[in-house]
Parts: sequence; structure tokens; C-alpha cells
Amino acid sequence: MKYHIITFGCEMNKSDSERIATTLQKEGLSPTDTLSEADIVIINACAVRQSAMDRVYGQVKKIENLKKKNPDIKAGVTGCLLEKDRKKLKEKYDFVFNIKNLSELPKILNISQKTEDINSYLDIKPDRDSSFSAFVPIMNGCNNFCAYCAVPYTRGRERSRPIEKVIDEVRKLAKKGYKEIWLLGQNVNSYEPTSFADLLYKIEEIKGDFWIRFTSPHPKDFTDDLIEAMANCEKVTPYLNLPLQSGDNEILKKMNRNYTVEDYKKIVKKVKNKIPDITLSTDIIVGFPGETKEQFQNTTSLFKEIEFDMAYIAKYSERPGTEAAKMEDNVTLEEKKRRERVLTQLLSKTALKNNKKWIDKKDKVLFDQLKNNTLIGKTRHYKTIKIESDSKEFIGKIKEVKIKEAKPFGLKGELI
Ligand code: 5AD
Ligand code: SF4
Repeated sequence: MKYHIITFGCEMNKSDSERIATTLQKEGLSPTDTLSEADIVIINACAVRQSAMDRVYGQVKKIENLKKKNPDIKAGVTGCLLEKDRKKLKEKYDFVFNIKNLSELPKILNISQKTEDINSYLDIKPDRDSSFSAFVPIMNGCNNFCAYCAVPYTRGRERSRPIEKVIDEVRKLAKKGYKEIWLLGQNVNSYEPTSFADLLYKIEEIKGDFWIRFTSPHPKDFTDDLIEAMANCEKVTPYLNLPLQSGDNEILKKMNRNYTVEDYKKIVKKVKNKIPDITLSTDIIVGFPGETKEQFQNTTSLFKEIEFDMAYIAKYSERPGTEAAKMEDNVTLEEKKRRERVLTQLLSKTALKNNKKWIDKKDKVLFDQLKNNTLIGKTRHYKTIKIESDSKEFIGKIKEVKIKEAKPFGLKGELI
């Protein structure tokens, strides 16, 4: 029997899909990249924006067609799901399960007699898609209840993994020669067993030649100790995604973000002071309920001031059950699109300006793919870089590269 997993959303979902894969492989199933060859289809959904949920509903037709040819095919949904969608999806798919109950999946599928009790689904060893870059969840869930966000409802309250488990997992990956470890969590810097800074120091001590990256931290918990740790730990790469969401204090308050523009600017200043070559990226939501043109203007001003390297800009999408859903979604789609365009244009200018600083400089690069005689990878500073080469053997390796050209969202270089 073969399985096919369709994954939507963030790194945490990708990481969860790796654990779903292991669970099915333990039962003797093998993976297939071709949907039509699968006996079991698992959709790992993302409820953060309606557009991603629309795509989950969009798979229903495809599955129905497959069932005409193979009536035994079973299709189920898991992932980040709001109660409302969970109910609707139960009618459309064969089964819906909570990712926390992943160990019960074989029973749901009737392919196992085992009643193995796994306390925490995060302890299920993932079958990693990559042999050189790995996700390691350190916590799951969120207590912050940002007004727009579905996550506290879909993933529940914050729960940290014990330090020993995190360290043990990283140690094993380092031993296997992994080059990049992503520490994952909805709010990594509210890690509970110890401070996140301390966790970084502990992972730094693990033997091996690997990079530590993490996503996502919350500005409200971004301590000076953490900035120190980022600067002091050699394995921690000079890259920071620090979600801003809005550059207007009034909107930040309505979003329940618990920091001000001034707080955010202070963090950026300190980070740039300690780590001058940092690559800085952010997340922004445009068109939050009631966001006026003036309030949006404050976001654009801040964009000009901070000069981000990258930004993930999203149009506000109402999520049923959240606090923001009680407010009127009164910014038109057209205006949201306009605001998105304005920020994207600003971003391409600042990103290009920042990337140009790299010309004729060197950086280390971890290559992850070869396409049309081009090696593609990410620099230590998390910038996409392309190199003319047909050498497959560089995939999964860290190499020194000289940067020759800069585009807004990528660099070109050559191997040294
Ligand atoms: N609408 C639009 N964007 C959202 N995000 C989270 N919830 C919503 C929503 N309802 C964005 C935020 C977050 C990122 C993961 O997704 O910017 O940082
Ligand atoms: Fe959502 Fe806010 Fe939690 Fe991030 S911190 S997952 S945006 S509620």
C-alpha cells in the first residue's frame, strides 16, 4: 500500500508531515509522489488564511475522481483546523484526526492492531524529507491570542518539549551530519523549561558542523539575553524573522500584540548593534479590520526606516471564532491588494539595497537543489543564491561562495 501526503502552511506542518510519514511507514506503507498511485491520502491543512483552507476543500473533487477508479482509497485530513472546518471536512473526507493523536492513525485506517501509547506526538521520530536540513519542534501551540490568529484555537495552548528531548534529537542529527537545524515553534522565545537563550547555548555546545536557525520569535518576549546568545553562538546564523504585523500602535493594540512600534524599533537597534550583518525579515498583515490609510502609512514609514531584507506580507483574512472576526472586515479586497503592492515595492528596494552590499564579498552557502545547470542554496545569512554549476555533489554541503550579482530577492555567485 502506498500513501501520499499533501502539506499546506508553515514549517511546523512540514515537520508534522514527516512524523505522519514515519507512522505510516512503520505500518509497512511506502510513499508515493503521485496522488493517483496512492491508497491513502493525508491532507495536512493550514487554517491561518482562508485561501489555504479553500485549497483543502479544492482537493475533494480530485479525491472523488480517484475513488471512481479505486474505491478502496482512503483520504483524511489533519493539521491546523478550526472546529467549523473540522465538522465540514468530516462530511467530505473519510476521516479527520487531530495531529496530537497521530499514534492512533493506523487504528483509524484499520491497518494496525497495535495500541502503542505515545504520550507526545512530537516524540514520533520523523522520516525527514532532507538528509541535511532538519526541523526540530521545541514547542507547539500558542497562548498569545493575537486577535486575527487561528493558531491558539487549532493547536491549543503552548506546550514545550523537555530540554533533554530537544538536545537528544539535535545531537543525533548532528551525528548523522545534518548541516542545518531549524528550531520550530509558534513562539520559540517563550520556551518554558529554560530561557530560549539558554537553549541556544546548550545546542551550541553540541559537537558538529551545523547551523542553527529558528522560527518564529515574538517581539514581546525578545530579551537582551537572547540577542546576546544569538551574537555569541557561532552556530546560530545571522538571520532573524521577527514578525511585526503592523507599524501602527493603535492597530498593534487591536491585534493584541503586546508591544509598540517603539519596542520593536528598540529590539531592531539592539540586534543590529550586536550583529551588524544580520538579515532581518518580518511578517505583515495589511487591511486588519479598521486599518485606515494613515495607519497603513505608519507601516510604510517603518518599512522605509528599518529596510527589511525580506517580508512575508499577507492580506488580512477573517478567521471564524477569533476576536478580530467580531470586528468589521471593512478594508476592501482591492485596497488590501493595493497595500500589499505598496509594501512589496518598498521591500524590493530595501532588499536590493541590502543585497548589493554583498557584491564581491564571501559567504558560506548550503546548497539544496540543482536545476537547469544552476545550483541553488541559502547563504549563512539566509539569502537565496544561484551558482552556475552542474555538480550534484554539492547538494547538502556547505561551501564558500563569492557574490557577484544582487537582485532584490536573490544573489548570484561563484564557488571559490
Ligand atoms: N490573516 C492574514 N494573515 C495572517 N497571519 C496569521 N493570521 C492571519 C490572518 N488571519 C499571518 C501573520 C503570521 C503569519 C504566519 O501569518 O503575519 O505571522
Ligand atoms: Fe498566532 Fe500570535 Fe500565536 Fe503567532 S503569536 S501563533 S500570530 S496567536
